[in-house]
Amino acid sequence: MRLFTPVPYQVRRVARAAQPVGADLKEDDRILIGSWATNRLASVYADAERFKPDRWIETDSNNYDYPTFSAGPRRCVGYGLAMIMVKITLASIPLKRRPNLVPNIRIDTKVAVTLCSRQPIRVVMSNRNAKIVRTDVHGTVSDLYAL
Ligand code: HEM
Repeated sequence: MRLFTPVPYQVRRVARAAQPVGADLKEDDRILIGSWATNRLASVYADAERFKPDRWIETDSNNYDYPTFSAGPRRCVGYGLAMIMVKITLASIPLKRRPNLVPNIRIDTKVAVTLCSRQPIRVVMSNRNAKIVRTDVHGTVSDLYAL
């Protein structure tokens, strides 16, 4: 959820004129908070473009430099539930099934309110003892991470 930030940006209205980090914001201006970009800050995440789950053992981040669920008073109220659902889903699939992407799949990303795929992401669900099959993935999805 860091590299594939489900809600890649948020819009805010400026309530009072302010000059944060040199910008001159007037009342009623609209600003974008770039969660997607923040989640890739080299100053917070070493080798930021790379998918390295182990980094969370040592990374010292907070809601403001990992704003996948936003931060501050309008932070996602479903954060706790979402994290439980993600963990249960990720833990339960491999107990029963082996999901493999269809061969040579194309996945192009699309940013709307949420980050999604332009095409259906087709997966073959096999018995959990089936082999994991590597396949080539084409499309702009590969711009979002480094191997
Ligand atoms: C992986 C799953 C989820 C992600 C990444 C996510 C992310 C976010 C983000 C970034 C915001 C701030 C949006 C903004 O201010 O423009 C937000 C707001 C919100 N989320 Fe989630 N969310 C998730 C799941 C859920 C779930 C499961 C619920 C409810 C059960 C939920 C309910 C809400 C609500 C009600 C708000 C509005 C909060 C407010 O404006 O005060 N979210 N979410």
